[in-house]
Amino acid sequence: MIDVLIAEAVSGPFVDALSARFNVVRQPNLWEDQAALLKATETARTLIVRNKTDVSAELLRAGKHLIGVGRAGVGLDNIDLQCANELGVVVTCTPDQNSISVAELVIGLMISLARKIPAATQDTSAGHWNRQQFTGTELYGKTFGIIGAGKIGFLAAMRARALGMHILAYDPFVSEDNVLVREGQAELVDLDVLLSRADVVSCHVPGSPKTDGLINKERFAHMKPTAFFINTARGQVVNEPDLIAALKAGKIAGAALDVRVAEPPKSSELDKMPNVILTPHIAAFTHEAQGRVTRVVCEDIGRLLDGQPARNVATRFSVPQKKT
Ligand code: MLT
Repeated sequence: MIDVLIAEAVSGPFVDALSARFNVVRQPNLWEDQAALLKATETARTLIVRNKTDVSAELLRAGKHLIGVGRAGVGLDNIDLQCANELGVVVTCTPDQNSISVAELVIGLMISLARKIPAATQDTSAGHWNRQQFTGTELYGKTFGIIGAGKIGFLAAMRARALGMHILAYDPFVSEDNVLVREGQAELVDLDVLLSRADVVSCHVPGSPKTDGLINKERFAHMKPTAFFINTARGQVVNEPDLIAALKAGKIAGAALDVRVAEPPKSSELDKMPNVILTPHIAAFTHEAQGRVTRVVCEDIGRLLDGQPARNVATRFSVPQKKT
């Protein structure tokens, strides 16, 4: 029997500590081979994944001995939570552990867009010295709009405020008296109002059927031609062909995407656009955030194997409810 099956790249001292106590099988590429994943899960008591493993109902049902799934990260769009709830399998995740890193990348991307840093670097590395061509935009006094006012949106907004920006927030689940809105001194507005007023729009909503294609042709039409669009949430939130069309038509001034509909993405027109910044889903990838994420997921998986309740649960229960 496998105590912990690690199906993606999760490693470090906390995994080593877990290995000293339990039978831990590390197969960082297992997520790519669905048949092998299903087979290995049949004899696993717990599973650790990131965002690539499809923790489907089929996989959860194949795990006859499965008591827990640890998600090293915060997004749960790759896990069939409803099925986990039905089967009594505890799903744990690592809320807040990578929020600061994501917020910092948002600010990095925003400044990079406003000051054309990647394009200027490329041009200068090619031997040119084109100062006027890379005249940028100041962020001071401009408006930063967050779509989704959860922890990451809030942290990004606080950092944008420190740059002297005004904050707009759209979140159908948040009201004026929400502490994040008050503390962040954000103005809560409708999505289309946010899009029409913001100089920088940053997405912070979870991936779900409700947010699929939320930002599309109609939404881009509301944005200022000088505005920048940033997505560090989930690729599916943005209709990529519509984004490409908006960029080509000058409906917006630039975009930064850390997440894509398909990861890794196929080559596209976005690759060649000087006003587009593309990064490979690295928002949560800092040494600090990954240290915290790995610790929290390993601690909870260890607790489940020790018969204790998990601390960071996405299911309705923190101890396995499996009928044996
Ligand atoms: C998350 O959901 O935690 C981040 O997008 C990073 C990841 O998926 O691994």
